[in-house]
Amino acid sequence: MKISLELIAEKKLKPLFKDPLMLPFGRYFTDYMFTMEYSQGQGWQNPCIKPHQPLVLQPSANVFHYSQEVFEGQKAYQSKKGEILMFRPLENARRLNRSLQRLCMPEIDENNFLQAECELLKLEKRWIPTQKGASLYIRPAVIGTEAALGVKASSEYLFFIILSPVGPYFKEGFNSVSLWVSDTYSRAGSGGTGEAKTGGNYAGSLLATREAIQKGYSQVLWLDACEHRFIEEVGAMNIFFILNGKLVTPALDGTILHGITRKSVLELAAGLGIQAEERKIAIEEVIEGIQSGKLTEVFGAGTAAVISPVGKIGYQGKDYLVNEQRTGTWAQTFFKTLIGLQYGEIPDRHGWVYKVQ
Ligand code: PLP
Ligand code: COI
Repeated sequence: MKISLELIAEKKLKPLFKDPLMLPFGRYFTDYMFTMEYSQGQGWQNPCIKPHQPLVLQPSANVFHYSQEVFEGQKAYQSKKGEILMFRPLENARRLNRSLQRLCMPEIDENNFLQAECELLKLEKRWIPTQKGASLYIRPAVIGTEAALGVKASSEYLFFIILSPVGPYFKEGFNSVSLWVSDTYSRAGSGGTGEAKTGGNYAGSLLATREAIQKGYSQVLWLDACEHRFIEEVGAMNIFFILNGKLVTPALDGTILHGITRKSVLELAAGLGIQAEERKIAIEEVIEGIQSGKLTEVFGAGTAAVISPVGKIGYQGKDYLVNEQRTGTWAQTFFKTLIGLQYGEIPDRHGWVYKVQ
């Protein structure tokens, strides 16, 4: 793929931030973005890297009315040797294509996806923080742009990639967060779009999240839509429990996101000395586990959040504290291993670390 490039004069480039660790998540963007357009019959065309700028769309564009939108979330890290590293980026390319399929949108060649990211990252290298814990967040997204109000799949699309230097996702950093279990709202139902990374899933979760925050929690822990009983995931991460000394996480049942951090944690487990289980987990089992001491840790896992220890779970008006709200040893072990790999500091036996060249 030949990507055209519209350069910005050196003196017009934005100044960098002194301490990216202090940056709020996803508020500041780099100088450039990638765009590529699709139209029926012609496929994807006009790949271009150009100054980060507003999009011009018709008010009747599909995305504004019928929400044909999918996105990804990745990070670029800079190693001590100055290499640009990404973590399992082909997994994101594949998941993007699964989301695109589910939303009836045209797929993007995995190699073109990766090439676009690499060329953009090379140009924006100065924005990739060197401090551990900070990174350059990559947000690829595809939207339906056809100007037509009939309910049907758009015949035109825009794929864009923007970059944002980020520190920790939660204001708590690596301290424990609190979750509120919603037993009325649901995030996704069987046969729905739960496992696609599409904006509508997030829009539908905002009201419950607002309630959780008003009650003093950081995020919602979602239960299944049918019985409001089985654990699903958190707003922006998958969830893990250390239960009876095993690493337990909800099985992928079509309603939760196939998290790449989740997959990595599961694949790392055996090598780190813990048995992993993917299965249904009822909220009663979690509460009983906390009360009996069988459940010793809870943590979330996601690209933005990395590993986020959970110290408190609120359910039906009662709070249950996990591990006295301290960060547990397994959360710490997975966190250290993941970021060690991501920053190129520990040997990559799995072939997960991708060097941008
Ligand atoms: N679940 C949801 C709803 C998410 O938004 C995310 C973040 O991408 C995750 C889980 C974790 O997925 P990943 O580890 O691929 O970032
Ligand atoms: C991510 O972890 O990359 C996400 O996309 C989570 C969130 C910011 C939506």
